[in-house]
Amino acid sequence: MTNFHIDPTIGFILGRRSVRKFLPNAVIPEMVTTLLECAFAAPSAHNRRPLHFIVVDDRATLDALAKAHDSGKAMETAPLAIAVCADTSIMPEGDMAWIEDAAAAMENILIAARALGLEGVWLKVMDRHPREERVTPVFGPPPHVKIVAIAALGYGDEAKDPHRGVNEERIHRNVWG
Ligand SMILES: Cc1cc2nc3c(=O)[nH]c(=O)nc-3n(C[C@H](O)[C@H](O)[C@H](O)COP(=O)(O)O)c2cc1C
Repeated sequence: MTNFHIDPTIGFILGRRSVRKFLPNAVIPEMVTTLLECAFAAPSAHNRRPLHFIVVDDRATLDALAKAHDSGKAMETAPLAIAVCADTSIMPEGDMAWIEDAAAAMENILIAARALGLEGVWLKVMDRHPREERVTPVFGPPPHVKIVAIAALGYGDEAKDPHRGVNEERIHRNVWG
């Protein structure tokens, strides 16, 4: 551990944990805007920016998503969800960088949530079957739009320890080995 741990941003990154139980308190619109601003701020390959975001704060829709997503119980209590979606039609043939773009945006959302006193969890959608086929119709996007993942968000109702330390066996210096 280094002195850098006193830096609040480092604390938010290490403190981010997957929280799947939430208090009923709503997330104020200004915070939602900040989460979206952080999502849009993520790096994007060739600056193509293929992402769209669906903000869900309607209880009935959150419940429908929780039912459709086999690992989406978190949305039963979360007052907010943000689906990270990619418009694949703007990508050159065979360019899959929208997946990495979406992952970067998702991580920004989760770290920004932590910084705002919120918690969240990443719920994968794309390429999990039959999950994707069950969840996608709840949103009803056009066929060229992929629902990559959903962030379930809110004030946490469970506490988890922050991450600490590194796995030395997974660190290689200059070359593998
Ligand atoms: C690509 C990806 C997909 C994930 N999908 C799910 C999911 O469908 N349901 C879920 O409860 N958690 C999901 N998670 C959260 C992981 O289970 C979690 O990050 C992992 O257990 C480590 O815990 P931590 O986030 O508290 O560090 C996903 C995480 C990633 C990065």
